[in-house]
Amino acid sequence: MGVVPAAIPGDFSGGQTRNRWAKASICNAAQQAAPTGDAYLTNETGPDVTDVDGVARDIGRLRRVYAERSVSSAVRRKTSLLNPGHAYNTEQRRLIEVELLLKAFPQGLRDVMALDLGCAGGGQLRELMALGLKPDNFWGIDLMPDRVEAATSAFPDAHFLAGSAHALPMEDASVELVTQFMLMSSILSPELSRLVVAEVDRVLKPGGHFLWYDCWTNPLNTEAKGIGLRTLRRMFPHYRMDVRKITLAPPLARLVGPKSMQLVHLLNRIPILRTHYLVLLTKPAQAAAGSGTT
Ligand SMILES: C[S@@+](CC[C@H](N)C(=O)[O-])C[C@H]1O[C@@H](n2cnc3c(N)ncnc32)[C@H](O)[C@@H]1O
Repeated sequence: MGVVPAAIPGDFSGGQTRNRWAKASICNAAQQAAPTGDAYLTNETGPDVTDVDGVARDIGRLRRVYAERSVSSAVRRKTSLLNPGHAYNTEQRRLIEVELLLKAFPQGLRDVMALDLGCAGGGQLRELMALGLKPDNFWGIDLMPDRVEAATSAFPDAHFLAGSAHALPMEDASVELVTQFMLMSSILSPELSRLVVAEVDRVLKPGGHFLWYDCWTNPLNTEAKGIGLRTLRRMFPHYRMDVRKITLAPPLARLVGPKSMQLVHLLNRIPILRTHYLVLLTKPAQAAAGSGTT
C-alpha cells in the first residue's frame, strides 16, 4: 500500500487545509514547474493506493500526451468548429447537456457548487454559466498547468487548480455537481481510474449529480480507452443513471460534414455510429450500505 498525494506537492495538505482551494494558491500552483508523475506520489496526505508505480507512470504518460496535444496542429484541426461535422456533434452534446442538467436542477444552477475534472481552458464553466452558475461557485482541476493558467485568465472569478483528479483538495460531500468530459477515457491505469471515481463519490453531496461525457470506443487512439456502460455501472453501482448515446463517430463526422450535413444528420440516426455516452449519474440521497462506488 502507498499513499497518493494532494494535487500539487506541498500546496494542499489534507486535513484542515483540504478545503482551502484559495485562488492565490491555485495561481501559484499553475505557475510552478510542471511536476513529473513521481512528484504526485510524494505527499503523504492523499488516499491509499495499491499500485503506486502504475499511478505514477500513468500520470507521467498523461502529462506527456497532453503536452504534445497542446502544440499539435492536427488536434487543433480536429476540434475546430469550422468543420461542420464537429460543430454538429458539439451542438448536439450541448443541447443534451442542458436537457440533463435542467432535469437535475430545474431551477438552474444559481446556487449550485460545481467541480469539473480535466477542465482544460475552462470551457465547461461557460456552458454552466449559461444555466446560471456563478463563477465563484465553480472549481476546475487539470493536470496541465498551462491549461489551468489559460482558464484562470479567461475566468478570473472561478477557481482553478493544476493537479490530478485522484486527489481533490475538497471536503467530503461539498459539491452538488461534478462533471467530466473526456478525462476518464484518457486514464489507462485501473488504479488511477478507481481513485478518481472514489474522489467523485467522496466530494459529491448525497443526491448530487455527476455528469459524464466520454467515448465507449476509440480504436484510433492508443492513448485512450473507451468506457462502456457496464464498466460505468460497475464504477457507480448505487447511482441512478440517465444515459444518452450521442456523437457521430468524430472521424466520420469530420469527413462527411464538409460535403453534406444532411448525410451527417442521417448517419447520426444509426446508434452504432454514435461513439459517446452523455450520462447523468445521481448519487443516492441516503448512503447505501457500503460505498457508493466500487
Ligand atoms: C480530452 S481533454 C478534455 C478537456 C475538456 N474536459 C473538454 O471536454 O474539452 C482531457 C483533459 O484532462 C486533463 N487530465 C488528464 N489527466 C488528468 C488527471 N489525472 N487529473 C486532472 N486532469 C487530467 C488533460 O490535461 C486534459 O486537459
